[in-house]
Amino acid sequence: MIVAGNWKMFAGPDPRALAEELAGLGGVETIVCPPYTALAACVAAGLTTYAQNVHWADEGAYTGEISPPLLLALGVHGSLVGHSERRHHFGETDEGVARRASAALAAGLGVIACVGETQEERDEGATETVLRIQVDAIRDACGANERLVVAYEPVWAIGTGRTATPETAQEAHALIKTLLDRPVLYGGSVKPENAAELLEQPDVDGALVGGASLDVDSFASICEAAARIRS
Ligand code: PGA
Repeated sequence: MIVAGNWKMFAGPDPRALAEELAGLGGVETIVCPPYTALAACVAAGLTTYAQNVHWADEGAYTGEISPPLLLALGVHGSLVGHSERRHHFGETDEGVARRASAALAAGLGVIACVGETQEERDEGATETVLRIQVDAIRDACGANERLVVAYEPVWAIGTGRTATPETAQEAHALIKTLLDRPVLYGGSVKPENAAELLEQPDVDGALVGGASLDVDSFASICEAAARIRS
């Protein structure tokens, strides 16, 4: 079980307080994805720390980007790539996401690669097609790399309070695993109240938590639910 907290563009909790709360939790791998300015403090607190994005080049004239070697120099362990907010607000493409993922893995970082359909795509019955296109791009670039994890995040469930039902999540996860044999985390309004029923699904290997990861107690309680289920 893996539980990752995506703090997005929020300051997030105090890294030392969070590390203390999570210490001694067995059976679950916990990851934090803070804003760039808090990466060093999270590393120093002993948390497994991922950036929220990473570029494919080692260095270069790419204002606003960060490279795998720069993250590694800070002691960062990995990065998210392809979050729907990157895809939709900043125009990231399947090709770019795949390049980011493959460069990060090649550099020795872990990667959580995010995929998921919009409400419109689901309504049109295009969920499977969309997931196939997104996952194929990542698989073709990275293969079933042992440091690669996928996150299924239906866009309609992110930050909306509308969680996918456990059955909807399970169905999508099972499909993704036929395409790429790696662990798949569920993301989209995961909270202490709904974590267990999602994590109990056989193909749900953990959670990527946004809003509920900003509070030490609620993130810790999701991590504890994960630890109880498959420890
Ligand atoms: P949420 O965000 O838990 O606030 O819905 C999840 C994510 O975007 O990773």
